[in-house]
Order: sequence, then C-alpha cells, then structure tokens
Amino acid sequence: MTRTRTQVGIVGAGPAGLMLGHLLHLHGIDSVILEDRSEHYVIDRVRAGVLEQGTVDLMHEIGVGARLAVEGLRHEGIYIAFGGARHRIDLARLTGGRAITVYGQNEVVKDLIAAREATGRPLYFEASEVAVDDITSNRPRLTCRADGVMHTIDCEFLAGCDGFHGICRPSIPSEQLRVYEREYPFAWLGILANAAPSSDELVYSLHERGFALFSMRSPSVTRLYLQCAPDEDITQWPDDRIWAELRARLGTTDGWMPAEGAITQKGVTPMRSFVAEPMQYGNLFLAGDAAHIVPPTGAKGLNLAVADVWRLAQALGEFYTSGRRHLLDRYSAEALRRTWRAQRFSWWMTSMLHRSDSDNPFDHRRQLAELDYLVSSEAAMTSLAENYVGLPLL
Ligand code: FAD
Ligand code: PHB
Repeated sequence: MTRTRTQVGIVGAGPAGLMLGHLLHLHGIDSVILEDRSEHYVIDRVRAGVLEQGTVDLMHEIGVGARLAVEGLRHEGIYIAFGGARHRIDLARLTGGRAITVYGQNEVVKDLIAAREATGRPLYFEASEVAVDDITSNRPRLTCRADGVMHTIDCEFLAGCDGFHGICRPSIPSEQLRVYEREYPFAWLGILANAAPSSDELVYSLHERGFALFSMRSPSVTRLYLQCAPDEDITQWPDDRIWAELRARLGTTDGWMPAEGAITQKGVTPMRSFVAEPMQYGNLFLAGDAAHIVPPTGAKGLNLAVADVWRLAQALGEFYTSGRRHLLDRYSAEALRRTWRAQRFSWWMTSMLHRSDSDNPFDHRRQLAELDYLVSSEAAMTSLAENYVGLPLL
C-alpha cells in the first residue's frame, strides 16, 4: 500500500484525461492520471476522426501538433449527397478560412501519451478497483490497485474523464444529477478498409436505404459507415454485403463511388444523445463523454471533450495562481452551454440524414426538402459550416 498526494487526480486516459493532464502541466499544476485499460487498448480503439479548427489550433499551441502538421488531412469542404447527386459545402469560404482536419483519435491519444511521458508525471495504465472518495471535501481521494499494490492518492481536485461507462458520474448522488437522454432507433456499422480514398473530402449521404458516410484516415485508408439496426448482428455482414450496401447508398449518378479494398476492422456503434447536469459536484469535475454523449453524425464528441478540459484547465490555472474560484464556479454552466449547442447540431444532422422505421413517406419528403434547402441556401450552408468547423471556445 502506498500513499501519495497530487493537486488534480484524473480518472481516464482518453482524449479528455490526457489533454487535461498536459494543459495542467503547462500551468505548472501536478496531476496523476489513472486508466483501467492497457496502453495498447487505449491507442488501438478506433473512434473519432474529425478535428475541429479549434482542436487543431490548441494541439499546435500546446506543443503536441508536430505529427498532426505532417499527417493530418486538412479538409476545406464536405459533400452532402442525396437524390443521386453530391453537393459540396465550402467550409473555408463560409467561415472565413476555418476547416476541419482528419486525424484519427488514436493518433491524438498517441501524441498525448508521448507528451505525458516526456513530462515524467504519473500515468498508470491497467489500474483496477479505481474509486473516488470524499468528493465534497477539500481532500478528495483516489484509490486503485496498480502493479499489484493498492495506491491512495490525496488530491485537491478530481477530474472525471472516464467516459460514459466510468465510475465518476455514478459516484455523484443521483438526486444531485439531472439526466437528459435520447436513444435513436438505429446504429452505425463502421469499417476501415485498405483503399485509397476516392474523394478528397467526406461524403454524408441520405439514401432510401438509409444513411452512409464516406470518410478516411490516411491517403491509403478509407473509413466508411452504414446506418444499421441498434442490435445489428455483425456476423450477418460479410464483406461483399457491406460493399454492395455502401455502393448502393453512396454511389452518385456521375459515377462516383467509394474505392474498395481489404476490410481490416468492423464494428457497430450505438447512437445516443445524453447530458448529465451539472458537470460538477463538490471538488469533482466531469469532462468529455463522462458528462455527455452526442450521436457521431456531427463529429463533435472528441472536440467537445477537448473544449471541456481546456475550460477546466483555465479554471484550475486561475485557482492555483490567484486562489479565486470564479472560473471553477462557472465551469459547469459554461461547458453545458457549449454541450447543448453541440447536442442540437448533432441531433439535427442525425435526424436530417437517417431513415427511421417510424417515418412515413411525408417524413422522407420533408428530409429531402431540408437537404435541398440546405445545399441551395447560403444562410443554411453557413449555419452548418460554422457548427461543423466548431464554434469559438469561449
Ligand atoms: P473516452 O475516450 O471514452 O475515454 C475515457 C477513458 O476512461 C477510457 O480510456 C476508459 O478506458 C477510461 N475509464 C473508464 N472507466 C474507468 C475507470 N473506472 N478507471 C479508470 N479509467 C477508466 N468524436 C468526434 O469529435 N469526431 C468524430 O468524428 C467522432 N467519431 C466517432 C466515431 C465512433 C465510431 C465513436 C464510437 C465515437 C466517435 N466520436 C467522435 C466520439 C469520441 O470518440 C468520444 O467523444 C471521445 O472518445 C471522448 O473522449 P473522452 O476522453 O471523454 O472519453
Ligand atoms: C470518422 O472519420 O470516423 C467520422 C467522420 C465524420 C463523422 C463521424 C466519424 O461525423
């Protein structure tokens, strides 16, 4: 058994926990990061791929952008496809030069782990029995078992960056939390394929057979998604069936379709909107997926996690330099304001682009009219573009 102390105890080494640890380091604030999975698992998990302009700028500012600058793919537009045609939305023109960058979450996590290791500050993988205690006191505690030894870490603050299934949110008394939730009657079947992307930019498509998305990870790897049932049995999807469905839903009448190649990864992702309010209880602050989940159609989840921890680091920085709790006290309300804007955008993109069994022919025609309006109105395209590249952090 060991007993140590730190300023901020961070639970979870996903993008939120790792980014927070690095931001705090730059403020001269000590932290310990506990992660229950292995380093290998955390790096290999295939998830987000789209970084907002603000996320990219922040990574450069804090010195973790070297590989991003070389390997990230800057996209100044996206395509919206329906009725057999693709329509380009010029993100950069509509937002004064802002854009998105395609760079896998795995790569972000790899860069942040390397940055953490360079600081020499503690990061424990495969920590089991992680628990938080005394969260309303000014000596909250983290405990875990790592390398066969029980550790107790006395902290001044705790950051719950442990994702949707973590232990931090459930450690807040349920009567103190208000939860807002919506499940969708569909999911995404996602694949990675060894195929050079046949479009330079992402394609979001609504087809009578459902939604499909063309994305990528690198000049030789294509990432594709298909709307499917929430309980879809992946064994019913041999590669040929996946490609046939992708060709049907993404192919346009000008002859464009995704290039095909060996499928190297397959998975089903459920879709959910979820917000827990407030994002603070005592000296425990929630950030990222621990506090909120968005359906992936707006590409907002990772970016929202980064925005939360940027805000939390500013607040802790203010506290440790001046003793003031002003920004800490405002953290939950300000983070929730951004969260709800991202929720609205993600819900809107999702409902515009997916088909539901409960929809009738009227609903489908209304979706097509919405898409038609979107791609023909400068105002509508500007609204999509400013949300997609990311609203300002403040
Ligand atoms: P997580 O990444 O979930 O990290 C939490 C960490 O805490 C994990 O490593 C977990 O192992 C650890 N943990 C959990 N419990 C414990 C415990 N008890 N003790 C210690 N550690 C614990 N977002 C985008 O912005 N753009 C996209 O294009 C996009 N696409 C997506 C596509 C898919 C298929 C999926 C699934 C998600 C996508 N997202 C996207 C969402 C994005 O991946 C998440 O929002 C992001 O991972 C949130 O980061 P986080 O650090 O808050 O949580
Ligand atoms: C991805 O490339 O994984 C991706 C892209 C856009 C989204 C969601 C996921 O909206």
